[in-house]
Amino acid sequence: MGAAGPYYEPRSVMPVILSGAKDLCGFMKRQYGFFAVLRIMGRSLDSVESRLLMPAVFLYRRRSTHSMRLTRQLWISSAIITVLICASTAAHAGAQETPLAQTPPMGWNDWYQYKCTISDAIVRANADALVSTGMKAAGYTYISIDDCWQGQRDAEGNIHPNSRFPDMKALADYVHSKGLKFGIYSSPGPKTCAGYEGSYGHEEQDARTYARWGVDLLKYDWCSASKVYTPDQMQAAYKKMGDALKSTGRPILYSLCQYGLEGVWRWGASVGGNMWRTTDDIGGDYNRVTMFGFMQDGLAPFAGPGHWNDPDILQVGIGKLDHDEEMTQMSLWCILAAPLQAGNDLAHMSKDTLDILTNPEVVAVDQDAEGVEGHRAWQEGPLEIWVKPLADGSSAVGLFNRGIGPMPITVRFQDIGLPDSVGIRDLWARKDLGKFDGSYTATVPRHGVVLLKVK
Ligand code: GLA
Repeated sequence: MGAAGPYYEPRSVMPVILSGAKDLCGFMKRQYGFFAVLRIMGRSLDSVESRLLMPAVFLYRRRSTHSMRLTRQLWISSAIITVLICASTAAHAGAQETPLAQTPPMGWNDWYQYKCTISDAIVRANADALVSTGMKAAGYTYISIDDCWQGQRDAEGNIHPNSRFPDMKALADYVHSKGLKFGIYSSPGPKTCAGYEGSYGHEEQDARTYARWGVDLLKYDWCSASKVYTPDQMQAAYKKMGDALKSTGRPILYSLCQYGLEGVWRWGASVGGNMWRTTDDIGGDYNRVTMFGFMQDGLAPFAGPGHWNDPDILQVGIGKLDHDEEMTQMSLWCILAAPLQAGNDLAHMSKDTLDILTNPEVVAVDQDAEGVEGHRAWQEGPLEIWVKPLADGSSAVGLFNRGIGPMPITVRFQDIGLPDSVGIRDLWARKDLGKFDGSYTATVPRHGVVLLKVK
């Protein structure tokens, strides 16, 4: 038996090994991600990473035959414990870290209803209403503050909200307490579009602040960035914040807003974007909404689980569209697998607005698991047919009339890639229409839509 030093019971060494193993797993997940942990679990116990535990063992080692044996035993048990802990934490992490935006994000954004009058109280009232009206149950989860929440930076450069938002963390906590997620807004430029403080030169610091507050979504709006960056620096500017958000370790959905410049759909995902605006600001009447909506054709290859084309906020319930026009925007956005961001005052909406935003069969088209963006399949002047393939083998088919009077539209199934004999369901009416051979004709109102599920 050895001479000098105390003898350590394996029991007293176990806590050290356990915490070492936990730290190691945490470190590997932070450095290399969840899949690296799984890979490492599959490797030999003699891996370099496992040996990192050895210092914990050596700390307690005695230079004696007995302690050499003990060290070997501890080494083997530490390796086994590492694998077990990694397995359990990896499984746990797998459950927690579902990739963001697997279907198009759904929520609410204040911009069109409130602009720079937005406040803590308004956000809370809309969070309450999102739950009490059934919007949350229909799938809307993000409550997002747009521009105008920012105050000043302190001496250390930390951003603080302005007086309309007394405590951003408390507001985020409130939103979370309703089972909702909390979104915020900034710019890669020195100023936001409304002239508030941007994130230029403070990207990592702001990302850390957002994570500390409990932010779940960042809309990052180009605005004054055009004064400090050239267009060919745009991707790097967006990647900078994308990386900063990732390095916080908090899953924060990244929403790019630069109006479709530089063909953002081609690179948005590569800078960490989960959605990117493909258009200028949509706010306006039917002509503006449909100009943006119908010009999305061709962008389908760039959308899919985790990353979506965003033709901007829904105008339903804001007051510039009539009933048929609102149904048109909602139907088209669902066919486009677009993010569904309600933009209206949720606490004071009509039943009609609520019905349009929450029709489960229409929302299901948007949220379809396959995540395929639809495309224009046929056009005759102001009449258009759009098709979105769905996971169950059926297709959503939208018959749109952009003309100024009602018009019949005939869908010839084979012309749009469907079988010649199909069953049809009207999704707005939530009614089966029966079996049809060859074609189906519906009269579509002015600026209106008929939305079908065809199989
Ligand atoms: C830009 C964006 C809008 C909105 C405003 C806020 O115009 O495109 O969506 O965020 O800025 O100032």
